[in-house]
Amino acid sequence: MGAGKSTVGPEVAERVGRPFIDLDRDLEQDLGTTIPEFFEQRGEAEFRLQEERHAIAALRLPDPAVIALGGGAVQTSSIRGELRDRAFTVLLEVDPDTAWQRSAGGDRPLARDESEFRTLYERRRELYDEIADAHVYDADDIVLAAAGVHVHAGALELLGSLVPGQGEAALVCDPHVGGIHGAAAQVALGSRLVSVHEVPQGEAGKAATVAERLWSELRLDRGGTIVAVGGGSTTDVAGFVAATYLRGVTWVPVPTTLVGQAVGGKTAIDLPQGKNLVGAFHWPVRAVVDPATLETLAKDQYAEGMAEVVKTGLLAGEPYWELPGPELVRRCAAFKAAVCLRDPYDEGERVMLNLGHTFAHALEAAAEYEGVTHGRAVGLGLLAALRLSGRETGVVHDVLAPKPVRVDRERAWTALQRDKKARAGELRLVLLAEDGPVLEPRPEADVRAALDELIAK
Ligand SMILES: NC(=O)c1ccc[n+]([C@@H]2O[C@H](COP(=O)([O-])OP(=O)(O)OC[C@H]3O[C@@H](n4cnc5c(N)ncnc54)[C@H](O)[C@@H]3O)[C@@H](O)[C@H]2O)c1
Ligand SMILES: [Zn+2]
Repeated sequence: MGAGKSTVGPEVAERVGRPFIDLDRDLEQDLGTTIPEFFEQRGEAEFRLQEERHAIAALRLPDPAVIALGGGAVQTSSIRGELRDRAFTVLLEVDPDTAWQRSAGGDRPLARDESEFRTLYERRRELYDEIADAHVYDADDIVLAAAGVHVHAGALELLGSLVPGQGEAALVCDPHVGGIHGAAAQVALGSRLVSVHEVPQGEAGKAATVAERLWSELRLDRGGTIVAVGGGSTTDVAGFVAATYLRGVTWVPVPTTLVGQAVGGKTAIDLPQGKNLVGAFHWPVRAVVDPATLETLAKDQYAEGMAEVVKTGLLAGEPYWELPGPELVRRCAAFKAAVCLRDPYDEGERVMLNLGHTFAHALEAAAEYEGVTHGRAVGLGLLAALRLSGRETGVVHDVLAPKPVRVDRERAWTALQRDKKARAGELRLVLLAEDGPVLEPRPEADVRAALDELIAK
């Protein structure tokens, strides 16, 4: 009671693209009376029976929904059983003082006397803890919990308890990250850890030869879990191996870069013909994000990640780049997780995450992936995307200050025209409209002019 379920519930439903069911409101409609009146006339026991019928019907609906349960529903054991079997249950935390302030003076039958209210809070607490799959404070927390993304400073030390199940674990790291965070991961995994595998640092790790070596080194059975600690390169190759080894085993990325800490369930390796050309969608059983691991990241690596943070903030319409580290990580990860939950196989709106990337990839390709980092290219790409959207570019200059790159104009233009989002000769770009991102065609001449502006004279 008073935790904010009716406010946060619809917000979460919208963000994950599911319907919202407010059981108390539904129940009132069905009963043709308000809950306080029903309590008054028929008593709590009768109310709980009605509630049970409704809650179980809602939990058994064939299509998943976000459901707000009444505060007392967990007292009914059949509802608890149903939650255990069919639902991912989050407890929206609220302290008793706030809950009382919000509930007092209303018409809630069980919120009339403060000391009774507090006793009830204590009594229910145990049941809540028993059934909650996650404890959350806001909509972002709920989205992250639903996506299996655990964001928490110090999470690396708890890795053992955060890797679901009891099966064996194999750890994948590059030598650099392994040297810094590997020992903590090994200690945390304890006796479940059966092997440690090294992959080359950076993009070199995303090679078919590396995947092949991992396939042959691994000794996990189908119940095993691959745990990957490192940047996006390490988690990409380890995730791909997890998607393919024994036709797929579970995996847990522990991303240690700002880029990687927004988890999306895509895995990939590179081919000589291009980046990310082979891969699989393989959502991790859990992602463990420890913002504290970012502290050992080189400054330029952190700057790389800030380009993606600015991108995400622009998409969300919120200045995420102004937030302190851990909160920035949490908000960005939640934004991306929601987009990925709505479009898990990248068939629709997930394309928005490419804001600025059509230009960025063209610049990187023109530089043959040497001397132009992805972060700098994305900074420039965001400038172009904002200009073509008719928007201010101030924030990109202030936060990223991307300098024009020295690359061949023709090559950049040729690369841009090969963009995956091109359809029937028309260039479609992710742009930022007033109320959010859109995929729109733009005349070639305008696109070329915007690209030229990013290239040093
Ligand atoms: N699958 C996806 O959804 C997704 C999303 C974004 C990027 N990616 C991929 O990720 C790759 C880029 O990943 P990245 O930017 O994380 O870099 P990276 O994985 O290439 O790592 C860069 C360097 O940082 C080091 N490093 C990583 N974490 C560290 C830490 N905490 N402390 C000190 N050093 C650390 C690594 O050893 C490495 O040398 C690209 O291949 C990209 O395609 C994949
Ligand atoms: Zn990017």
